[in-house]
Amino acid sequence: MPQRARQALALTKALVRGGHRRQTAVAEILRPANLFQPHATTSADRYPVEFAAAADALTTAAPSILSFGCSSGEELLSLRGQFPDARIHGVDINPVAVRRARRAVADDPAITVARAGDAEGLEQASYDVVTALAVFRHADLNEAPPRCDPTLRFADFERTVDRLARCVRPGGVLVIRHANFRFTDCAVAADFEAVRTGFASAGEGGLLTPIYGRDDALIGTTDRDDGIYRRTR
Ligand SMILES: C[S@@+](CC[C@H](N)C(=O)[O-])C[C@H]1O[C@@H](n2cnc3c(N)ncnc32)[C@H](O)[C@@H]1O
Repeated sequence: MPQRARQALALTKALVRGGHRRQTAVAEILRPANLFQPHATTSADRYPVEFAAAADALTTAAPSILSFGCSSGEELLSLRGQFPDARIHGVDINPVAVRRARRAVADDPAITVARAGDAEGLEQASYDVVTALAVFRHADLNEAPPRCDPTLRFADFERTVDRLARCVRPGGVLVIRHANFRFTDCAVAADFEAVRTGFASAGEGGLLTPIYGRDDALIGTTDRDDGIYRRTR
């Protein structure tokens, strides 16, 4: 069977099966502008160490939290578990994810969900915690090809992270995990200090995360800087 026909068949099967596979298939069919990871993989309590460390870094017990790339809402409910008094806003680029996430949090009036592909419409310096977990990556880079730009570009990462970082209040934290790029390669990182990096390296599905530089060329698979950063100014 020709490759295009095989791909079409796989997408059709995923649409019929439902769940995260349907969500991923919708992203691959729609290909919205600024899409990073199309895969919708998520689960409850995926980041207990990171969330506990973020909580320790805060001075408020009732933070305002932005979860960028919240997928179908498990991450929002996990954040609620760590931050019982938080106001939480989830954003995802995928319309099916947003619909599922809204259903998942329907009983919690302090959690809202919106569809967006960046933080452009969000108020600057208005969140104590901003998370972007397994968003700035792509499954097609898991084999560490020498360049990432046929799939993702550093320029898109930097523009998107810049807007997200500006949503963090001075004193608040940005939490980035499993990215194919380094936060400290972005100009906006000058306004942040590292609180904690060096979390476990296994990416989604136990895969390593190849890292690409400002020039979209492969740096390696170990030079990561993902973790928790505090806004200093
Ligand atoms: C692998 S899932 C990660 C879900 C969750 N953050 C976690 O780590 O369990 C990646 C999610 O990022 C979303 N995503 C990709 N590009 C995005 C963008 N530009 N804006 C918002 N969401 C995006 C996808 O739709 C998908 O739901």
